[in-house]
Amino acid sequence: MNQANTSSSAYDKLRARLLTERHVWLVTGVAGFIGSNLLETLLKLDQQVVGLDNFATGHLRNLEEVRTLVSADQWARFSFIEGDIRKLEDCRRACDGVEYVLHQAALGSVPRSLADPIATNATNIDGFLNMLVAARDAAVRSFSYAASSSTYGDHPALPKVEDVIGKPLSPYAVTKFVNELYADVFARSYGFMSIGLRYFNVFGPRQDPNGAYAAVIPKWTAAMIAGEDIFINGDGETSRDFCFVENAIQANLLAATTTLIEARNQVYNVAVGDRTTLNQLFASLREALVTNGLSYEKNPVYRDFRAADVRHSQADISKSGRNLSYSPQYPIQRGIAETIAWYLEKNKKPFTDATAR
Ligand SMILES: NC(=O)c1ccc[n+]([C@@H]2O[C@H](COP(=O)([O-])OP(=O)(O)OC[C@H]3O[C@@H](n4cnc5c(N)ncnc54)[C@H](O)[C@@H]3O)[C@@H](O)[C@H]2O)c1
Repeated sequence: MNQANTSSSAYDKLRARLLTERHVWLVTGVAGFIGSNLLETLLKLDQQVVGLDNFATGHLRNLEEVRTLVSADQWARFSFIEGDIRKLEDCRRACDGVEYVLHQAALGSVPRSLADPIATNATNIDGFLNMLVAARDAAVRSFSYAASSSTYGDHPALPKVEDVIGKPLSPYAVTKFVNELYADVFARSYGFMSIGLRYFNVFGPRQDPNGAYAAVIPKWTAAMIAGEDIFINGDGETSRDFCFVENAIQANLLAATTTLIEARNQVYNVAVGDRTTLNQLFASLREALVTNGLSYEKNPVYRDFRAADVRHSQADISKSGRNLSYSPQYPIQRGIAETIAWYLEKNKKPFTDATAR
């Protein structure tokens, strides 16, 4: 049996097991992109989920959509706390009685952190520390958190291996690196072991296409569907390891439930292990639109490189494969096909303001 088969069966086995055992999970940032996808998967596995969010960048419409995708019984197993990780008491309330914490709440985006480093710091560092303290005091079984590939900073080596990092290139990257440092200190000082998942450009359904800080795939997809210009920062040869959200969900569930002691108090790359340039991404999105009977005739508009952007990014995913049995099931093209289909569907039935938040 090859590695992929072995690993995908580890995730399949885990899902089959979860269907027979109910656990209590906390997903922070549950109204966001990755958080709401975690919620959907966990509810479909008949798990009990507590969600925490303050709607800073998340939306009620994401929760509403999950409600339509699960059964009434499954939805009844979800309890939502509108709260703020910058408040320790909100974190304590959310952690009460929880077994597995999947901590996703943060202010994402490198440009946002350059524009307002204080806000990013408050949520991503103070909020993270609150969550660590609350989870430690609640004696949860495991704590996995959203780390970031931005931690590789200015180190040029490719592919990125967890132990070899450079200097952070943005306030956002600093905050995500500090998360890892705090997590490690909590393991050493209090024996509270956590797992950091360094996401590489996650994309998929429910990722927000709007606003100044939207990520490239939702932003371009929405613009292409609307027939608007799309802009490429730089020459288009900047590359990323784009990771469909289902892969990130797999990593979260495997990390949360691992019983391997050596797997704890570690950070892991969560990606596909591939590299796609922005020019290639544009071509793939255009092709996926054609597959869906649409066309986009414009050429991209090239403009200046963006400040603090890393030139190339590609993950080595062997450590996550080895320790967590992580094996991404969605290569970029399969992820793009699902993502485009979702945005096209949304375009037909956009959410009204009543459900937008
Ligand atoms: N999407 C990616 O490519 C990517 C890459 C690396 C790391 N990450 C990390 O993954 C996590 C999830 O990102 P996402 O893409 O789903 O972003 P998102 O903005 O859609 O989700 C973040 C959620 O956190 C919530 N939140 C923010 N501040 C909060 C606070 N003070 N209290 C409570 N909730 C708060 C937001 O309202 C939002 O719902 C973040 O930690 C992000 O830094 C994402």
